[in-house]
Amino acid sequence: MTKDIKFVETVLRDGQQSQIATRMPLEDMLPILERMDQAGYHALEVWGGATFDSGLRFLNEDPWERLRTIRKHVKNTKLQMLLRGQNLLGYRNYPDDVVEAFVTKAVENGIDIIRIFDALNDTRNLETAIRATKLAGGHAQAAISYTTSPVHTVDYYVQLVQEMIALDADSICIKDMAGVLTPHTAKELVSKIKQITDLPLEVHTHSTSGNAEMTYLASIQAGADIIDTSISSFSGGTSQPATESLALSFKEMGYHTGLDIDCLTDIANHFNGLRNKYRDEGLLNPKVKDTEPKTLIYQVPGGMLSNLLSQLKESGQEELYDDVLAEVPKVRADLGYPPLVTPLSQMVGTQAVMNVMTGERYKLIPSEIKDYVKGLYGQSPMEISDEIVETVLGQDVSATERITVRPADLLAPKLSECAEEIAPYAQSEEDVLSYALFPEQARDFLGRREDPFYDVPVQEVKVTFE
Ligand code: CO
Repeated sequence: MTKDIKFVETVLRDGQQSQIATRMPLEDMLPILERMDQAGYHALEVWGGATFDSGLRFLNEDPWERLRTIRKHVKNTKLQMLLRGQNLLGYRNYPDDVVEAFVTKAVENGIDIIRIFDALNDTRNLETAIRATKLAGGHAQAAISYTTSPVHTVDYYVQLVQEMIALDADSICIKDMAGVLTPHTAKELVSKIKQITDLPLEVHTHSTSGNAEMTYLASIQAGADIIDTSISSFSGGTSQPATESLALSFKEMGYHTGLDIDCLTDIANHFNGLRNKYRDEGLLNPKVKDTEPKTLIYQVPGGMLSNLLSQLKESGQEELYDDVLAEVPKVRADLGYPPLVTPLSQMVGTQAVMNVMTGERYKLIPSEIKDYVKGLYGQSPMEISDEIVETVLGQDVSATERITVRPADLLAPKLSECAEEIAPYAQSEEDVLSYALFPEQARDFLGRREDPFYDVPVQEVKVTFE
């Protein structure tokens, strides 16, 4: 009996985010979109993650306009996006009215499937986004932020999937943003999830450690339905395994992929040209194609390794790299083992750098870490010790300031206030939402668009990893 495998093509989002810091402009995608629509993909991942931020800040491109244009050219294949639950596409929690409006508009502008995750796997942070997606007629996929730690066992994840089923998720994703899921564990995890639900199960990993193809094979053999791959031009290294290679191998093993190999070849030819151009321009650093098994040894995402190194290089303290690398798992343990995904990866990394640079642990503490310990990002996977709570928050405030409710319950509606603030430049509710998510960047983008004398130039974009 042939079994179906579905492929999600990531080159327009995660593939280019992982290898060229999300700097592919829409015009580079346009000529190939119709051909991509004919390839037989289950979905194209095109939006979310850092694409929104990068469009406003660096490309001077309206992310909503990008989505509508892609939708116009991709008439049949589903369009997919990545959403950080209550954080939407930003780095903090937004009130429910902003989450509801954003999700509704994303579906209205062309998104079919929304992959929703929370950095802490606190499912309370998924509730509003899942409900809003379904209400808008979209497919709500709930994603596990996969990581390893003493608390993150297979049983822990199976329990998490139970909670996602209870929230009425339409499908489940194992999202291994760091590329630390190994074939052996993938087999066990997929089998156990499949034992408790018939919902479609998708596996998302990165090639960083060199294990990704084996992990996909083990996952598919254990019953997974969908895998995420990137067309070869932007595959491997920090990105996903190559679409064409896996399509050919799985076909030979008797699986039905639905993919048209001639079509994939045309798509690869288009993106090969772009890859070569970006490489010549220095936008694609050849290092992103390297294999980095250290990610398995330290359990630190590849993108975070390179970010830490460049942070230390900038301050001329490269020799501290190994010390910082050893400090990251300690900070993570102190904080109750948060998965290292945006925004927690940046927060834990910064704290580790500060601990090493000052020569005294927690001498300097960023305000985001204090908020995290207060519970403002959600429940930490493991309880944080009283000692760390006191170190971070001080003795007096530790008891009173910590919260246990769903963080967004503390946030008042904000959309009408945002609409008033950005009224001089906003032409649509989409503009208001851009402003609600990224006030400074959206004001500058909309200002440049509406006012010929607006003179704030386009900024650099920060690389994020998910
Ligand atoms: Co990813």
